[in-house]
Amino acid sequence: MGREFIELFDHWADHYDVTVLGHDEEYREVFENYDAILEEVAELASGTVLEFGPGTGNLTEKLLRRGGSVYAVEPSPGMRAQFARRSLQAQLLEGDFLQFPDIPEQVDSIVSTYAFHHLTDEEKEQAVAHYAAMLGVGGQIVFADGTFRDEEAKRQLEEAARHAGHLNLVNDMRSEYFTTTGVLERICTNHGFHVTFKQLNRYVWLMHAVKKTD
Ligand SMILES: C[S@@+](CC[C@H](N)C(=O)[O-])C[C@H]1O[C@@H](n2cnc3c(N)ncnc32)[C@H](O)[C@@H]1O
Repeated sequence: MGREFIELFDHWADHYDVTVLGHDEEYREVFENYDAILEEVAELASGTVLEFGPGTGNLTEKLLRRGGSVYAVEPSPGMRAQFARRSLQAQLLEGDFLQFPDIPEQVDSIVSTYAFHHLTDEEKEQAVAHYAAMLGVGGQIVFADGTFRDEEAKRQLEEAARHAGHLNLVNDMRSEYFTTTGVLERICTNHGFHVTFKQLNRYVWLMHAVKKTD
């Protein structure tokens, strides 16, 4: 579910890591501080980790360095092929944010970077409901993703991107499901999480949700 962008990632897979290094002018601001953003997510993760949309495995590598098991769920065959080339000691699984194989141990942290916006807000809520049922008290969701403070901030960033001639970025902002911190806060609170947000660059926010009760 939420798989309508998979073909795009199959085509992007072999040069994705060049984009995140900031060599693509249009997406430079989106990926600004990319390595530090992934590091911040990895630092918050603890115990057994379930990662969604690992792509080429950049966050996975950081998670593994910290120890513990990592299950990485990736829907794009092209991205899975790039991930597999790195021979990381993680369990790579075929699936997506909503449909994925059973994880054979208790998951403590659910993490993701640059991926949750591929789900509509309704699908995001289904996903968080599912994670609430999987996690124990104290279990956490740590996502860093393109997010806006509110609709006005989204309008302003879209306008700035159009002004700079970054029309692919404008198209992404319109066709993908970037949401606001307010929507994410409501979703997490509805499902028993205490949630905080931190802006990591002009486009990316960290969402840290900790499960309060069973
Ligand atoms: C922009 S890349 C981010 C890759 C990596 N997490 C990173 O930070 O570099 C988005 C990733 O999300 C994956 N993806 C797209 N739709 C998804 C879905 N519905 N569920 C899980 N992953 C998805 C893509 O295949 C791709 O690997």
